[in-house]
Amino acid sequence: MGNIFITGVSGGLGKAMAEYFIRAGGAVFGVSRSAPKDLLQFENFSFRSLDLGNHESIPPCLDALFTDNQFDLFMLNAGTIGQYGDLADISLQEAKHVEDVNVWSNKVILDYCLQKKMSVRQVVAISSGASVSDARGWSAYGVSKAALNMLIRMYAAEIPETHFCSLAPGIVDTSMQEYLYSLGKDDKYQTLGVLQSAKESGKMPSAEAAAENIINALPKIRETIKSGGYADIRKL
Ligand SMILES: NC(=O)c1ccc[n+]([C@@H]2O[C@H](COP(=O)([O-])OP(=O)(O)OC[C@H]3O[C@@H](n4cnc5c(N)ncnc54)[C@H](OP(=O)(O)O)[C@@H]3O)[C@@H](O)[C@H]2O)c1
Repeated sequence: MGNIFITGVSGGLGKAMAEYFIRAGGAVFGVSRSAPKDLLQFENFSFRSLDLGNHESIPPCLDALFTDNQFDLFMLNAGTIGQYGDLADISLQEAKHVEDVNVWSNKVILDYCLQKKMSVRQVVAISSGASVSDARGWSAYGVSKAALNMLIRMYAAEIPETHFCSLAPGIVDTSMQEYLYSLGKDDKYQTLGVLQSAKESGKMPSAEAAAENIINALPKIRETIKSGGYADIRKL
């Protein structure tokens, strides 16, 4: 197993994927604002603190982080949900911030790779079922994940030597779901009821189980999904 870069390694799915790859012997490079303290002890894990909403800080951070320019995998996982609810109720500033983190940070990262002539075999951008859902409430998050899907399609056309995919991970028991759970039920937003039932009935996989599922699916993604395509792990 070679070099793997993961964004959003401080918790949830990103941390679980980082730990899986570290234990499997990969050289894992990770970023997030806060550090995954229990992973810092591993010699094959390199970490830099980075706010992906601050785009100017991304290239110098990657300069300091990367010790090689050949990668097996970029897992563009970091994401923020912003405020769940009606799009009309969130400020333009907050909507733009959600897009800055969920979409445009990935442009900066991929442009960095191009400028540095890095070789990346596979890019997986963690998308969401919200990117293709018209359910009320996904708001700026849904808009950002739909834009992420198209960003990945564009780069797939521009960089044919790398396999690109936007992947919806299904519902995963992380702090993002805790936030949605904390909102309670609301007749306006049917999704909240569905997610709450999944959490209460134990049908929401842990981050560790979801990470393993995604990692096991990586070869199948390369073999069956056209580069740039969107896939849902539940349908693979
Ligand atoms: N959980 C689900 O059910 C679900 C479903 C569909 C899609 N997803 C997607 O899966 C991915 C992982 O989500 P999760 O559920 O694991 O969420 P999570 O537990 O909230 O973790 C999000 C990760 O992203 C990082 N992050 C957020 N804002 C950042 C910023 N400005 N700069 C750098 N890193 C930032 C966080 O680190 P810091 O806060 O330390 O910066 C954290 O490591 C996201 O893209 C999410 O949209 C999740």
